[in-house]
Amino acid sequence: MKQLVVGASGLLGGFIYRSLIHEGLDQIIGSYYGLAQPDMIPLAMEDQAAVDAVFAAVKPQIVYLVAAQPNVDWCEREPAAAYRINVGGTENVLRACARNKARVVFFSSDYVFRGDAPPYYEDDVPDPINVYGQHKVLCEQLVLSLCPGGLVVRTTGIYGSEARRKNFVYRVLDTIGRGEIVAVPHDQLGSPSYAPDIAQVVQQLLSMGASGIYHVVGPEMMDRYSFAMLIARVFGLPSQQIVALDTATLAQTAPRPLAPVLDGTKVRAACAFEFHTPAAGLKAMARLTGQLGA
Ligand SMILES: NC(=O)c1ccc[n+]([C@@H]2O[C@H](COP(=O)([O-])OP(=O)(O)OC[C@H]3O[C@@H](n4cnc5c(N)ncnc54)[C@H](OP(=O)(O)O)[C@@H]3O)[C@@H](O)[C@H]2O)c1
Repeated sequence: MKQLVVGASGLLGGFIYRSLIHEGLDQIIGSYYGLAQPDMIPLAMEDQAAVDAVFAAVKPQIVYLVAAQPNVDWCEREPAAAYRINVGGTENVLRACARNKARVVFFSSDYVFRGDAPPYYEDDVPDPINVYGQHKVLCEQLVLSLCPGGLVVRTTGIYGSEARRKNFVYRVLDTIGRGEIVAVPHDQLGSPSYAPDIAQVVQQLLSMGASGIYHVVGPEMMDRYSFAMLIARVFGLPSQQIVALDTATLAQTAPRPLAPVLDGTKVRAACAFEFHTPAAGLKAMARLTGQLGA
């Protein structure tokens, strides 16, 4: 069995790639975009010819389409460029999957919802309020129409160790480390999701032959400020620099859905898997990075 992880150099893609390699059962190929990795192949998914060439060479049977430009504010500022990558690039990979009859897992977001009527279930109608969310909705529709049997995994607030140190946990740690103020919204709710958990649950879903939409999210809902305070506590850092603001004051470029909370009942009923609570996930991450505090 050949499996291709498109976006294996990223946070979630890295955990998926490494867990597949660790299993050692199949032939695993990973791709990177800007962060060159010696064991992976380069791929810009908006380049259709390049995507087709990779599929012709690799002939994958399972494809994890983790790649995206997930910077929500950049997508809002550069909607055409974001579309080219996040929708056009996704479509290139999906069409190649369809031609090659490969099973595909696509990763979507809680930002497909408006966030004013939580919790959201898999069959609720998306109603995004920013460009990133609109593009994810288009991608979900493409998966379900082009790739019968495709799996759409909606997730949120992904954290875990990563070379680029760009997920929320590192932003909090590094901003505190520089002695600067960490301004975080107290009115944006989500369920922090530990990347290795998502990787494992996706494997279970695939082995069960699951298709359609699943919400794969951590077990506890919390606001961003509370999560930032928890990060400081687990990593043993002072929390005085963490300041709670409301979203309106923060004035982020892209409008943020305030409570796009994804209900995870469906995946918990399907998979025998214990998700890390945020405290347990942060402790596991801290142990991995050798930074465990008090
Ligand atoms: N992070 C979250 O909290 C969150 C929440 C909900 C949903 N999601 C979705 O989950 C997925 C994974 O998120 P993540 O945080 O792990 O993202 P990430 O760390 O930014 O990784 C993105 C991956 O996509 C690759 N990539 C970027 N542009 C590409 C292009 N034009 N062609 C091919 N590959 C490209 C990157 O390559 P390089 O690193 O080599 O440049 C990287 O491997 C994304 O689809 C994201 O939208 C994320």
